[in-house]
Amino acid sequence: MVSKSEFVVVSNRLPVRRAGPKSSRWETSPGGLVSALTPVLRDRPSTWIGWDGTIGRAPRPFVHDGIRNDPVPLSQSEIETYYDGFSNRTIWPLYHDAVRSPEYHRHWWRPYVEVNRRFAERAAQRAARGGIVWVHDYQLQLVPGMLRQLRPDLRIGFFLHIPFPPPELFRQLPWRREILEGLLGADVVGFQTKAGIQNLSRLARHLLGSSGQSGELIHDRRRVQVGAFPISIDFERYSKRAADPESHARANELRTRLGQRHVLLGVDRLDYTKGIDTRLKAFRELLVSGRLGLDDAVFVQIGVPSRKRVDEYQQLTRSIHEIVGELNGEYGQVGLNAVEYFGRSFDFEDLVALYLAADVMIVTPLRDGMNLVAKEYIACRNDDTGVLVLSEFTGSARELRQALVVNPHDIDGLVGGIETALAMPTVEQKRRMRTLRRQVRQHDVYAWAQGFLDTLAE
Ligand code: G6P
Repeated sequence: MVSKSEFVVVSNRLPVRRAGPKSSRWETSPGGLVSALTPVLRDRPSTWIGWDGTIGRAPRPFVHDGIRNDPVPLSQSEIETYYDGFSNRTIWPLYHDAVRSPEYHRHWWRPYVEVNRRFAERAAQRAARGGIVWVHDYQLQLVPGMLRQLRPDLRIGFFLHIPFPPPELFRQLPWRREILEGLLGADVVGFQTKAGIQNLSRLARHLLGSSGQSGELIHDRRRVQVGAFPISIDFERYSKRAADPESHARANELRTRLGQRHVLLGVDRLDYTKGIDTRLKAFRELLVSGRLGLDDAVFVQIGVPSRKRVDEYQQLTRSIHEIVGELNGEYGQVGLNAVEYFGRSFDFEDLVALYLAADVMIVTPLRDGMNLVAKEYIACRNDDTGVLVLSEFTGSARELRQALVVNPHDIDGLVGGIETALAMPTVEQKRRMRTLRRQVRQHDVYAWAQGFLDTLAE
């Protein structure tokens, strides 16, 4: 029998992944969430419940790197309906301002409920009496409510990593009441920004008749705390690696290979919310108008493949390839591209070298819960140089006020922003970057996790 855990984390994906497609070896997934929770998980008997990314039967619970992983199985059809369907073609676009049309299908909703119940039941089995369960993200919004029914003794927290939409959009959802009931099963519901608090509170009042203030709702005669907890990164890890002479050597080599031009950088999951096409179009305008020459600047774009079975993602990938091809076809020369595009992920060390090599970091999502790439760039700029161009529709724009904040829908504004960034005097770069760095250093991912868990323990 598996012993009970005082602390349980529940997320769609486990914090580990297989080292290769068929490998039996596990490796820790990259990302701040894992590093932030590791100290908490090692401190007491804990379990992380999630999907291991494979089809069908799940392995038995196992310990990797000091963390107990408890895999939940997903069948082929559940991957298509619960994950590709309801999570990524209904909720994902709806919660990102409907920048693509969300689809509403009853045959996706039912598996979403079933899979959420599976996660809730697993958490109910694993959690010790009076224990803490922290549920994450849009794939599992029904889990808090289901778990509350099964185990009223638990402290339940829920954190949404993506935006929570305004009522005008949310109300489209045929299952809007069920989702709200699910979320309000938690003792603490956390969002990236204050907008989430207001949106949930208005919806809960209008659709469920909840009462109370925005930050503290009364639902089902229970108190539900609703708060903003902007997520962050492990600042020291990035900053330390960036200070390593090896990183500087790699960055210098990159700059040489890129022809000693100004380097503009974009790093994103290949997602239609990220505004990758928009920024490439803005760059193209600078070349077309002659305001920028091929010798002046190069655009390096990393697009990490994501959710490849979903149509919208395939279309996006094709369209990015097309834009990059056209740009290089029109403006490149033999041995000198206008855009250097990589459709794959980079490991930590190479990523840090790229951040170091980049004069300007371009982050232009149409909507983004937070955007951690912006924070990673800042953490790497130990000498305070470098400029961040940042979309106002990211959660991070609420905190990173000294960035050049742009509206990605306004192509002229974006073009202007890139020009301003390229021309910014070093003194001003440093003034802005110092403030940005202070913000991210003081509000790192450890402070984030502590802040949420303290609220949950109150
Ligand atoms: C976003 C979501 C996460 C998700 C990640 C990768 O950051 O908030 O919940 O895990 O994207 O997407 P994937 O579908 O591959 O898990």
